[in-house]
Amino acid sequence: MLLLLVASLVQISLAQKLQLARNYTGQGFFDPWNFKIGNDAHDLTGGKGNMGTVNFTDQAFAQQQNLTSVNAAGNVVIKVDDFTSAQPNGTYGRNTVLMYSKDNITAGSLVIMDAVHIPFGCSVWPAFWMRGLGAVWPNLGEIDIIENVNLATDNQYSLHTLEGCTHPVQGQVNETGTLISTDCFTNDTTQPDNEGCVIADSDFSFGSKFAQSGGGAFAMLWDDEGIKMWFFTRSAVPSDMATASPNPSGWGTPSAFWPQSSCNTAQFFGPQTLILETNVCGNFALDVFSQTCPNSGQCTDLVVVPTNYVDAYWEIKYIAVFSNSSSTGGTSTVKPWTLLSSTIMGGIIGYLLL
Ligand SMILES: *[C@@H]1O[C@H](CO)[C@@H](O)[C@H](O)[C@H]1NC(C)=O
Ligand SMILES: *[C@@H]1O[C@H](CO)[C@@H](O)[C@H](O)[C@H]1NC(C)=O
Ligand SMILES: *[C@@H]1O[C@H](CO)[C@@H](O)[C@H](O)[C@H]1NC(C)=O
Ligand SMILES: *[C@@H]1O[C@H](CO)[C@@H](O)[C@H](O)[C@H]1NC(C)=O
Ligand SMILES: *[C@@H]1O[C@H](CO)[C@@H](O)[C@H](O)[C@H]1NC(C)=O
Ligand SMILES: *[C@@H]1O[C@H](CO)[C@@H](O)[C@H](O)[C@H]1NC(C)=O
Ligand SMILES: *[C@@H]1O[C@H](CO)[C@@H](O)[C@H](O)[C@H]1NC(C)=O
Ligand SMILES: *[C@@H]1O[C@H](CO)[C@@H](O)[C@H](O)[C@H]1NC(C)=O
Repeated sequence: MLLLLVASLVQISLAQKLQLARNYTGQGFFDPWNFKIGNDAHDLTGGKGNMGTVNFTDQAFAQQQNLTSVNAAGNVVIKVDDFTSAQPNGTYGRNTVLMYSKDNITAGSLVIMDAVHIPFGCSVWPAFWMRGLGAVWPNLGEIDIIENVNLATDNQYSLHTLEGCTHPVQGQVNETGTLISTDCFTNDTTQPDNEGCVIADSDFSFGSKFAQSGGGAFAMLWDDEGIKMWFFTRSAVPSDMATASPNPSGWGTPSAFWPQSSCNTAQFFGPQTLILETNVCGNFALDVFSQTCPNSGQCTDLVVVPTNYVDAYWEIKYIAVFSNSSSTGGTSTVKPWTLLSSTIMGGIIGYLLL
């Protein structure tokens, strides 16, 4: 009886540990980010870039050009320039945005993005992802929550790491997504270059079908069990997701799950910086261009024509980050679980005294 009581109270106190660290939404959305400026030759730590045909703009320019805005519905819109015509001379980089968070995401975090539109179209490469900036890539790991390219119809979740982190083989883990590849090591020579360990979601998770069904919500939970991802179409978004106490254990089987047993996350992942970007062409979009945009010519030929980018925009209701640690950027110093824990301890001591 006492054991049951203690067990259930411990469970409550663990669940209470996820506290809202930041809700990126509305007019305040853009403040807690840095903007990458210039071309895509290098990544954020000076390594090789993704070679997109882009000009990443600073925050003031993006706002002035209306690449970043808040629309009448109160949703944040981040788009690729869809109005500038350029000469087909091969040097033009289309104006777009890459934002990276000022906060770090650490183990014991839940990240949610609720969106109504994700960029798509031939040559378009959107990504909502994270990596550690405290070392060269991929030494602190990379976690991709939303990513695919061109006219692909499914969202792909993936991890990219040093050697030794894998996803279990087919059937060894409960997840609803489709397993594409198992080795998270960026240099696995038996997989396409830097493929990582990839799980694909349904046709409603990306592209025009995502937009047509009103979008939906993605979530990433990184805790002692490993890393899990969920996706819900608009009509299926759990009612607790937008509240101060989301409870992922009630959300059912995740779309993707990398259990701790095959990837020791403490070894392969350091503090992560969130990145929200829309690239144009770049290695991933180029690699699969003929399959995902058949009969569309060369990816880089599309870049100069602005009408190719009318669907290349994010429309986001919010990005919420919950954390069990106060160091993730939240300003609150009140930790309800501390109070709850003392209450529980008091209760247990009281019970023992009886
Ligand atoms: C590239 O972006 C910068 C702002 O960061 C802007 O001043 C510049 O005009 C852009 N280049 C082109 C060719 O639009
Ligand atoms: C800027 O873009 C937003 C989102 O698409 C739109 O609602 C707004 O009307 C645009 N503003 C201007 C001045 O074009
Ligand atoms: C290429 O086109 C861009 C945009 O029209 C222009 O700014 C640039 O000067 C051109 N470069 C060359 C080498 O013609
Ligand atoms: C937060 O959660 C992580 C992963 O579950 C755990 O390793 C860490 O000890 C927790 N931190 C706190 C302050 O509870
Ligand atoms: C985020 O992590 C990096 C790398 O570990 C560290 O240098 C930086 O100070 C951290 N930033 C914050 C705001 O904690
Ligand atoms: C998957 O879930 C079922 C039902 O809850 C459970 O019996 C089974 O052990 C789980 N499999 C794995 C590999 O965790
Ligand atoms: C992966 O391979 C590249 C090219 O051979 C090499 O420069 C890099 O150091 C390797 N990275 C790791 C993590 O092994
Ligand atoms: C975050 O902001 C969105 C949009 O304003 C809101 O619906 C949601 O409830 C907020 N989440 C939390 C945990 O406050």
